[in-house]
Parts: sequence; C-alpha cells; structure tokens
Amino acid sequence: MAKQEDIFKKLVAHAKEYGFIFQSSEIYDGLGAVYDYAQKGVELKNNIKEYWWKSMVYMHENIVGIDSAIFMHPTVWKASGHVDAFNDPLIDNKDSKKRYRADVLIEEHREKYQQKIEKEVEKAAQRFGEKFDKEQFLATNARVLENQQKIDELTERYASAMQKGDLDELRQIILDYEITDPVSGTKNWTDVRQFNLMFDTKLGSVTDDAAKIYLRPETAQGIFVNYLNVQKTGRMKIPFGIAQIGKAFRNEIVARQFIFRMREFEQMEMQFFVKPGTEMEWFNAWREKRLRWHKALGMGDGNYRLHDHDKLAHYANAATDIEYNFPFGFKELEGIHSRTDFDLKQHQEFSGKKIQYFDNETNESYIPYVVETSIGLDRMFLSVLSHAYTEEEVVKEDGSGSETRVVLRIPAFLAPVKLAIFPLIKKDGLPEKAREIYHQLKYNFNCEYEEKDTIGRRYRRQDAAGTPYCITVDHQTLQDNTVTLRDRDTMLQERIAIEQLDKIVSGKVNIRTLLNKLEE
Ligand code: GAP
Repeated sequence: MAKQEDIFKKLVAHAKEYGFIFQSSEIYDGLGAVYDYAQKGVELKNNIKEYWWKSMVYMHENIVGIDSAIFMHPTVWKASGHVDAFNDPLIDNKDSKKRYRADVLIEEHREKYQQKIEKEVEKAAQRFGEKFDKEQFLATNARVLENQQKIDELTERYASAMQKGDLDELRQIILDYEITDPVSGTKNWTDVRQFNLMFDTKLGSVTDDAAKIYLRPETAQGIFVNYLNVQKTGRMKIPFGIAQIGKAFRNEIVARQFIFRMREFEQMEMQFFVKPGTEMEWFNAWREKRLRWHKALGMGDGNYRLHDHDKLAHYANAATDIEYNFPFGFKELEGIHSRTDFDLKQHQEFSGKKIQYFDNETNESYIPYVVETSIGLDRMFLSVLSHAYTEEEVVKEDGSGSETRVVLRIPAFLAPVKLAIFPLIKKDGLPEKAREIYHQLKYNFNCEYEEKDTIGRRYRRQDAAGTPYCITVDHQTLQDNTVTLRDRDTMLQERIAIEQLDKIVSGKVNIRTLLNKLEE
C-alpha cells in the first residue's frame, strides 16, 4: 500500500477516535457519504467558519452576509439551469458492475501523465543537484515532452467533448486511452449517460409533480434571488458582495475519500456583484485574495496550486480551482468563478421581475456581473486535518527511550480546544487551583480540565487532539502564582505568571492575529 494511502487511513481512524468525525447513523452501519461532526470536529468547523466569515464580511465594508433557506421555489432551479444541466456523465463497467464518472476517469488518467513528469523532475533534480535547471529540463527532456504532449492532446479532446456534452466522444476517449476499471482491470464499458445530481422531495401533502421541490445543490441561488432585497435594504453600491454559509446536497455517485465528496455538505460562498466589463479584473483579484487566505494559515505554500478549468460550468466564462495537496493528490478545495450575468438574467426572465442596478453616477441601469468564491467547508476541514496529522519519534516524557507521538498540528487559531489545564497531581489543593484558572480563562478560550492519568499521558492525549497549549499547576503555583505553559509543537515549557496567561495565549490563538496577516 502506498505510504500516503496508509496515512490517510490512519487519519480517518484518528478522526473518529479523537471525536472529530463519525459516520452518520453508524449503529445502523452508516449511510454512504454522509458524516456527523463530533465534539472536537464541530469546534474546528466553527473556527473555520469564523475565519472565513470575519475575513469576508467583517473585513470588507462592501460585503454583507445572509442565511437563506435550503428549500426554494422549484422554478429557481429551472432558471439556474440545474434541472436541465446539473448532470454527471456516468459510465458502468460491465465486469465489476461498478459505476464511475466518465470525466473523473479521464481526469485521473491525465493526472498519471502529470505524475510521470513530476517523477522525471525529481530524479533529475537528485542527479544534477544544485546545477539542476527545472525550466530547461521541462523544455528539453524527451520523456517529459512525450507525456506533456499526451496531456495536451487528451485535454483538448476532453474539453471539447465536455463543452459540447458529447457523451459518445467521452466514451471514445476512455477506449482510445485504454482506461481500465480500477476494480476489474477491464475495458468492458457501457455507454455514457447523464445523471442529475439534485435530490428532490415533496412540499406539504400534495403528491403531484407541481409540488416537487429540491434540496439546494449550491447555496449561491439563495444569494441571487435575494440580490435586490439586500441591495435595496442595505443601500449597497456596486461593487458589493453577499456571503453565506450553509448546507448543500448532491446525489454524488462517486462518493469516496471520506469527507472530500459528500452527499450532504456545507459551502461558504460569496457572490460579488460588479459592473459588466470589469469582471475579469475582479476575478483575478478574488483569485489572489482567496489564495492568500489559505496561505495565511501556514500549511505550506507548496501545498496549493491554481488550476484553470477546461470544462466550464453552464453559467461561467472563466473558472479557477484552488487545489490542495490532499493525501490522495492535488484536488479542488475552492472554486473561483466568473458567472457573468447568467443567473440574475435567468431569474429576471423566469420571475418576470426586473433585477437590475441603477448607477446614480452614470444614470444607467444594468444587470450586474458576478464573481463567485465558493469553498467547501468539509474539504477545508479535511485539508486542515491532513496537514495536521503527524507521527514523529520523540523522547518519552520520563526520558526512558523513545516513542511515536501522534500530534495534530492544527493551526492554533483553528484548534478545537485552545488550552488544557492540569493539576500535576490530584491532591494538595492543586485541582482547586487548576479549576480556578479554568473558570478564569473559559470566557476567552475553549478550555479543558483534566486530572486523570500521568501528566505525560495527558500531554499526549491533548497533542493527538490538536490542543496547542497545556497549562500545568504544580506546588510552585501555590507559592508564586506561576504555571508551566507547554507548546504542542515544540513540547517546550515556560513558566508564566497566571495573570499573564490571558494575554500571552490570546496573542497565539486569537483569530485576529490571522486576520491581521491578510491585511499586511
Ligand atoms: N456555487 C458554485 C459551486 O457550487 P462547485 O465547484 O460545484 O461550485 C464549490 O462547488 C465547492 O463546494 C467545491 O470547490 C468543493 O469544495 C465543495 N463541494 C462540491 N461538491 C462537494 C461534495 N460533494 N462534497 C463536499 N464538498 C463539495
């Protein structure tokens, strides 16, 4: 088994063991691609939401937030194009009886050529050492050029097939490139068919088709249909944005890789309304801004890359993904889309209501263009967890040899519990003093009090849960009102006056520090 796959399995098990994520309805053997966030998970999720919401809404004078309903009038989805075009092209393998997304099979095949190129680069870099010129190598090496040519040819055919919705051509690509089923290993494929991803249900007791409604597949439409309400009541002037965090639902066929692709998930979306003709400028600005937001977390700049779309969604004229280096490779974490005036125009037509913006300065009316930033909260959660999970050899707390420490190096600002407070032992007034500190700090930080087991085991438990700081109350505390503050990552301890704790810990874990970085 590949090492990364191994780590990913451990990560999934760890997420359950330490109360981050449980499978939904586990006592009934679970429900496919649906998960519950547990006691630690919900805290991490809330902290990610806070970082996003504050950076979008509080840090921008011209962005406001809403929280629209999941159920919407069914015509919304007709207007948005989701009823007719929100489809995945599916293909079945006749031997394994497994179903796949044809586009995913092709993209994964293309990724293999890319990986071959990266391997060549790696080998050459080792061979040539400091003299290695990557640019020159990429431009001249025969094997690299051969693989790059395959990527380019495949990309061209694939993009054209997706644009035209040519399902026969998608199948032909799979056959021509000899793409095999990962389970059966055969090329015995069915035709490619379209499958709509929206879940539907009935509203009220009426069972005829007119009452059919959908669980929203994106939160964005709740923003579009409220564009006029927000613009008028908020007296918003273009350019301005509307942000929202909420659940979305998709009947994903290829549902795997844990919380990467779920059937019920959460999105954090922002629609930025701009003057037509300025959309590419804003598209580029938001691409940069969003990348900066990710990088500010310090999870390694090299773990992000931008990927421009070959296949554009039915509403977009430009789109880029911010991809993250998950344990199973670089995959989409966030999408930045230039959606033109498609959605507002469609809603204007289908509702019969005028949806325009009147510019007082130029005396003109127009339908605004939209640049959207759309990030999956669950994928963001997974990126944080994948980056955080670390196994390392350390000296045992009592100095007797070494042991493997599992530590979640979650950025301190996002950590579920910020501080664990321990009495060194369970007597001599130490628990009382530790609880006093706990009650003092609980207003500012999510704290945990623990007195069970040896101090070393308590530290390890908190390391594995990602708690960035532990405070230990010992006999010296009773004499001089100081405690030890232990850092999760360095495992170093320093002696701090109790009255200084609030200030020192705030500086390390407060989301404000992170928000300040975005302004630098
Ligand atoms: N409003 C635009 C939109 O929904 P999208 O690229 O389909 O665009 C945006 O989705 C983001 O939502 C993705 O980048 C991804 O992070 C997240 N996402 C989409 N489908 C998902 C799923 N099935 N499970 C988890 N996250 C998903």
